[in-house]
Amino acid sequence: ASTLGGLAGCASQLPGFGDDADGSAVTPRPTVTGDADTTVSLTASDGAIRPATDQSTTTWLYEGQFPGPELRVQEGDVLSVELNNDLDAETTIHWHGVPVPNSVDGVPEVTQEPVASSDSFTYTFRAEPAGTYFYHSHVGLQLDRGLLGPLVVEERDPHVEYDYDYVVVFDDYLPGEPTLPSDEGAGGGGMGGGGMGGGMMGDVRPPYEGLLVNGQLPEDPPTFDVTEGDRVRFRFVNASSATVFGVRITGHELNVTHADGRPVDPVAVDSFAFGAGERYDAVVEATNPGSWFVQADALDGDEPPARAVLTYDQLDGVRNPETPSSSGTRLRYEDLRAVTPLDGVDGTPDRTFDLTLSRGRGQSYTWTIDGQAYPDADPLRIHPDEHVRIHMENQSPVVHPMHLHGHFFRVGDAIKDTVMVPGHMGEVTLDFRADNPGRWLFHCHNLYHLDAGMARVIEYV
Ligand code: C2O
Ligand code: CU
Repeated sequence: ASTLGGLAGCASQLPGFGDDADGSAVTPRPTVTGDADTTVSLTASDGAIRPATDQSTTTWLYEGQFPGPELRVQEGDVLSVELNNDLDAETTIHWHGVPVPNSVDGVPEVTQEPVASSDSFTYTFRAEPAGTYFYHSHVGLQLDRGLLGPLVVEERDPHVEYDYDYVVVFDDYLPGEPTLPSDEGAGGGGMGGGGMGGGMMGDVRPPYEGLLVNGQLPEDPPTFDVTEGDRVRFRFVNASSATVFGVRITGHELNVTHADGRPVDPVAVDSFAFGAGERYDAVVEATNPGSWFVQADALDGDEPPARAVLTYDQLDGVRNPETPSSSGTRLRYEDLRAVTPLDGVDGTPDRTFDLTLSRGRGQSYTWTIDGQAYPDADPLRIHPDEHVRIHMENQSPVVHPMHLHGHFFRVGDAIKDTVMVPGHMGEVTLDFRADNPGRWLFHCHNLYHLDAGMARVIEYV
């Protein structure tokens, strides 16, 4: 493990908690009460998914839709969502990226009792800051069954102009019930219909049947209609369980305007890559009439790309679909510059965690942070108002999109809540201000890694 700016990391056991904490500062943000501006009810139940016309399979959905209904509210509005659980399993909803009060963060056993079958639970919070988010179940592998949907919190005063606003949710499509490899030595035996095949050495992705955009396979692509000369804002969400997507729109540059919902100085690129849990907004200028592909390739899989069609009115036929738009430039984190820097994360951190990410060594399929597999893992303890730094070194060959609940963090000059740590000793440093007391999960958003232990609780003491 390395040192950072002369600071010795290593914070698994920190002495001296409890006595010097200011008790009053540890109070979590209060639950939002009073009248909601928007009230929604989401019922989780069995449902049929038909990503292509000739396919149908029963899975779990919100409101019978896949993806779940788009929730769209104004920044600062109070949103109240009643989750009704019609599944024969426990469930929760997590508001991915929104720094909600801890009590409504939706993490079973950490922030709430899971919602029992036939029970309901109401999540009420102020929708802020503006941004592109999504919501999903935080129980086991339920997200991979379809319990997810987009959440858009609109700016009252956007820093970019646009005429259209389209949400584009990319996902990997798994028929049947997802399962973890139950035994590394089994070599693929005993998996459910959607199991991962139990590869012992590598990190085998589940046998995805296809890649989806807004719930559709490429045979039956959604269409985004625009008018020549207009500016189109796309809100791209990687809601997949285990896929890193490379995204581009043929014939057009992407002007990336937001990373994980946070505004950035616009960057023009040909494509960007994003991992599970990340979001990018990009504005496209409709100055090249025709029909084009909005396309996402699995960078770590070999399924055919997810595809939608961008079309200018009165024109059809896809023009030069395989031609990349321009230079082939791909967005890098270093290109991202937050419009407003994150407060309180400059200079020397008050506390640093130096963490390794790796595959567990035992007989069972586990993924670890600093050698520990959640839930048998020590919490990372912090004090309110500290500037906390987390440095990660990825000792495995695969990328880990690491997500922090309840806070945004600074990575380089960007502000994000999910960041990919590249494989083969890739390193990432993130900094955040401990400004939202509670118990928060910090984890890999590859659902199979999360479910196999790649998580820690960050606990305010
Ligand atoms: Cu998308 Cu722990 O969350
Ligand atoms: Cu991972």
